[in-house]
Amino acid sequence: GLNSRLIAGENTASAPASSAAQPIHILYGTQTGNSENLAMDAAASAKSLGMAPEVRGLDDIEMDALAAMRHVVIVTSTYGEGEMPDNAQLFWEALSADTAPRLEGMKFAVLALGDTGYDGFCQAGKLIDTRLEQLGATRIATRLDCDIDFEDAAAAWFGETLPLAAEKPVAGAATATAPSREQTGWSRKNPYVSTMAVNRRLSGAASTKEIRHFEFDLADSGLVYEAGDALGVMPINDPALVDLLIARLGAAAETEVSGTSLGALLSTQYEISTPSRDLIAEVERRAGHEELTHVVRNGDKEALDAFLWSKDTLDLISLIPQGSLTAGEFINLLKPLQHRAYSISSSPKEAEGSVHLTVASVRYHAANRDRGGVCSTYMADRVTEGASAGIFVSPNKAFRVPGNDDAPMIMVGPGTGIAPFRAFLQERRARGARGRNWLFFGDQRRESDFIYEDELSTMSRDGLLTRLDLAFSRDQDAKIYVQTRMKENGKALFSWLEDGASFYVCGDASRMARDVDTALGEIIAEHGGMTAEKAADYLAGLKKDKRYLRDVY
Ligand code: 2AM
Repeated sequence: GLNSRLIAGENTASAPASSAAQPIHILYGTQTGNSENLAMDAAASAKSLGMAPEVRGLDDIEMDALAAMRHVVIVTSTYGEGEMPDNAQLFWEALSADTAPRLEGMKFAVLALGDTGYDGFCQAGKLIDTRLEQLGATRIATRLDCDIDFEDAAAAWFGETLPLAAEKPVAGAATATAPSREQTGWSRKNPYVSTMAVNRRLSGAASTKEIRHFEFDLADSGLVYEAGDALGVMPINDPALVDLLIARLGAAAETEVSGTSLGALLSTQYEISTPSRDLIAEVERRAGHEELTHVVRNGDKEALDAFLWSKDTLDLISLIPQGSLTAGEFINLLKPLQHRAYSISSSPKEAEGSVHLTVASVRYHAANRDRGGVCSTYMADRVTEGASAGIFVSPNKAFRVPGNDDAPMIMVGPGTGIAPFRAFLQERRARGARGRNWLFFGDQRRESDFIYEDELSTMSRDGLLTRLDLAFSRDQDAKIYVQTRMKENGKALFSWLEDGASFYVCGDASRMARDVDTALGEIIAEHGGMTAEKAADYLAGLKKDKRYLRDVY
């Protein structure tokens, strides 16, 4: 398809390997770009092994093309609680169907990305791995299931697996490992320490939400990004919570654990908000806490979630007698502190030398303590203007303005979901792109929640924003949501699609994006004069053409 990319074209410098080089297909299923990036790394390794890698998204692969492939490595993440990522849904529909072809000629290996914090850990990778074997393909390496901290494990796995995919052993195979992006720039392991240039509140004082605008200074870092990418931010934990934990452990900030002070470990190295599975299990084992024991032993996920709701690691260790865990034991039960990723809200073409974020500060009060999100409150409260924080770019190559500057673009981004679309609009303005732009935005109240109102008004006045439709849900008795506005304007929306528009959604996945998807299907059916089934095909076609793209969480 159009979106297939020979690795030689875009991401690595060298020319395609000689015609004798063995083709290897590296196929990815991705939601936020991690799998795609890994696939690119794997391709670079395969190339250094003398193979001719071709990297493609799973939805670009028709079943007859799949059946013709001899060597296949699949890298896929899992979306939500065990679902296929957006760009693998059509592939999976075809692969899991009775009509799927036999794959006796194929050798394959699967790398699955996931998050042990969710149900259905690595489920998409597991399903594909099992199904390929069922269809007669030969597995050449055991599937690797990665947790969020995947880089090293994935690099090692590719280092072992790719040589196995070679027809005959290749010279140098034993020493080849995946070249990581770490060597070429700023990364999770080597973040750029940036100065906060702007940290201001966007939402009005009367809003129930605190949405903030941040600008990180890039100085001479050489850090590059594109509109549509996400920014990883390395958080530092709330010092008040760190102090409370240290007190509860009966230790001191200076207490040494494996050569480092407890205070430093709890501040920068470990997740102290969300309790790990290990900590929950250990507390359950020691506590004799009736409710916890009940929900853990019953394996009742919903009851466990309800019990854990808004509980952090301090709440958990407060269930067991003080002094029953040493500082070292406690540390051993924690997960490493992870970066948080946010959709970038600027285009590098306009925000020269800086990168912008639009983030809601997560704050709430529970069980007599003020609590907050790990990274949003870190940035809001402690990365004041002039202070610094570690950042790196997490590319999302699939989430981009249309390649054709004349193509129309429809964006649905209520609340902080506006972030990438502010970037898209800046990008199109900077490019002088002439395609029409339509934004659906909304939140609770116009008075306090219409963030970036001035900028959007300017864009409307200047004609960059062809249409701006607003949905403020609580300004009247009946709820008005972005999908309400979509349906009111269904006829025009469908005609934009017919004119080749790309349709983008960013924001809440479980309610908003789901309901927007339903509304879109209904609009296509009504205004395209189609049955529900035909409308679903039309939607599938948009996905396949990469004209229905989502950045949802
Ligand atoms: P509400 O909270 O007033 O119901 C951002 O949170 C905005 O998304 C709010 O205006 C919120 O409305 C709205 N919202 C809530 N559920 C939604 C849904 N299912 N679809 C679209 N918007 C929704």
